[in-house]
Amino acid sequence: MKRFITLLEEETGKAFEKAGYPAECGRVNVSSRPDLCEFQCNGAMSCAKQYKKAPLQIAEEVAAALEGSEFFSKVSVVKPGFINLDISEAFLGSYVKEMSVSERFGYENTGKTLTLVMDYGGPNVAKPLHVGHLRPAIIGESIKRISRFAGHKVIGDVHLGDWGMPMGQIITELKERKPELVYFDESYTGEYPGEPPFTISELEEIYPAASGRCKTDEEYKKKALANTKALQDGERGLRALWQKILEVSVADLKKNYDKLGVSFDLWMGESDVHDMIPGMVEKMKADGIAHISEGALVVDIAEESDKKELPPCIVLKSDGAANYETTDLATIMYREEHFSPDAILYVVDKRQELHFIQVFRTAKKAGLAGENTGLEFIGFGTMNGPGGKPFKTRDGGVLRLEKLISDIKDKMYEKIKENKDLPEEEAERTAMLTAVAAVKYGDLSNQASKDYVFDVDRFTAFEGDTGPYLLYTMVRIKSILARYEAEGDDKPEGDIKKALEAGSPARKVFLDMTDFSRMIETAFKERAPHRVCAFAYALANDFNSFYHETKILSEADKEKTAAYIALLKMVLNMFECCTELLGFEAPDRM
Ligand code: ARG
Repeated sequence: MKRFITLLEEETGKAFEKAGYPAECGRVNVSSRPDLCEFQCNGAMSCAKQYKKAPLQIAEEVAAALEGSEFFSKVSVVKPGFINLDISEAFLGSYVKEMSVSERFGYENTGKTLTLVMDYGGPNVAKPLHVGHLRPAIIGESIKRISRFAGHKVIGDVHLGDWGMPMGQIITELKERKPELVYFDESYTGEYPGEPPFTISELEEIYPAASGRCKTDEEYKKKALANTKALQDGERGLRALWQKILEVSVADLKKNYDKLGVSFDLWMGESDVHDMIPGMVEKMKADGIAHISEGALVVDIAEESDKKELPPCIVLKSDGAANYETTDLATIMYREEHFSPDAILYVVDKRQELHFIQVFRTAKKAGLAGENTGLEFIGFGTMNGPGGKPFKTRDGGVLRLEKLISDIKDKMYEKIKENKDLPEEEAERTAMLTAVAAVKYGDLSNQASKDYVFDVDRFTAFEGDTGPYLLYTMVRIKSILARYEAEGDDKPEGDIKKALEAGSPARKVFLDMTDFSRMIETAFKERAPHRVCAFAYALANDFNSFYHETKILSEADKEKTAAYIALLKMVLNMFECCTELLGFEAPDRM
């Protein structure tokens, strides 16, 4: 379907033309003064100079040309030349009705279908997910869903941190603790055992122990470096042990992401591009793009327009080992070869911006990424705890994501139990759904690039700009629909248009919904889930005003009730679509 606002612009554009002015002047905006009108056109002001006429006169001519338009119920001209517009009931009603029976509420992707690779999540093997992993997961997931809904092909890759020094550290610590393991026997040629020699909890305890020791014990650190190198060079036993670390860790990560409704198409990691590195490096050397500086292989990336001096990108460390830049560069090459994407999107902490500037510039300079491949850094801000300080546990440790979610779930459980007497199992499930909604909405409703404070009381409130408020509104609609269904069979067919009526608060709900397609397009282009939140919140507010001021089931005119029910169904569908895009869902009762 054509965008609602586009139709309005075409109509005013024709009027401008009819009055002898360019159609482009017919641009229409949502009114900044909703008390005066619903939409406004300021085009008379922009062409006044060129036509040497008072804007007011032009506006009056255009208003006259709009007379009889089926789109508007009222066209008025206000000094110095604004054209104020109200939408006719017939046009608004039929547009929304068409939306209600169209796929995706009439949204169509008018451009080309893009192929996007999305790099989000970014967890590290053998380290539990902590609060810092929340944002890349949920923002990335939402942008992925929005992009797909908007008509594009998206490949989501978790890009595991599975190849650096931490791997060597874990191996070193395991060797100290269990030297008898067959993985450390270099003369062993048989098959390695299927069972991993540790559990996830052991692994999670081993890593911090090892990395702590590396900081104080030089000998130990040397061993860890040597083990990292031996692993990367392909020592059989170490590779097999590393496989086990990966196996145990990935199973645990999947479990945790699953709880959050976050999933990935690819579970690739830094290690997967290891074999591409030598070829990549040779090519950079041969092309004269990389050079040796203080023993390391570097690429200069500074550009004249830079405001501050940017350090070169280190492609290989002085000991010849790969680093974070190396694997990211080779991964770009891999993605280019396998997916020829239109763009690669990175949802990563904004504090890593310099790293990505270096990597992107190097990738372009070295031709690892195609000339037209967009490399996009979507840097998100920090999620802070109360008082604006980084989120920590009571004793100052890193807060696990699992713990954060389960705390919020307990809180939601209390609230739900207070509110409604639900069977235990349903109360549990509902608490989990609302907790996920509270956390995700609390995060996604902020512009991603900004820091924000994780305010548990605010996020879990049933009132205000929150996830639970949205769910509560959906549950309210579900309950009305269920009661209506239970009322028996001889009901008239609902015509949504009949829900519109002069002075009815339903009108605002209709107007909100007309903006759906434009909202989707903006959310996609700006990679901005907060647009979806703002849309859903406005719709929820206007819907609740309508609900409070309107008799729905007790309305005497059954045709009207049926029309309201049609409206409720559409609003619920639209909320379901929005929550799906944000990555959570509503329970049936709460
Ligand atoms: N594992 C990284 C970290 O913990 C994040 C990875 C982000 N993605 C990337 N392609 N570099 O910092």
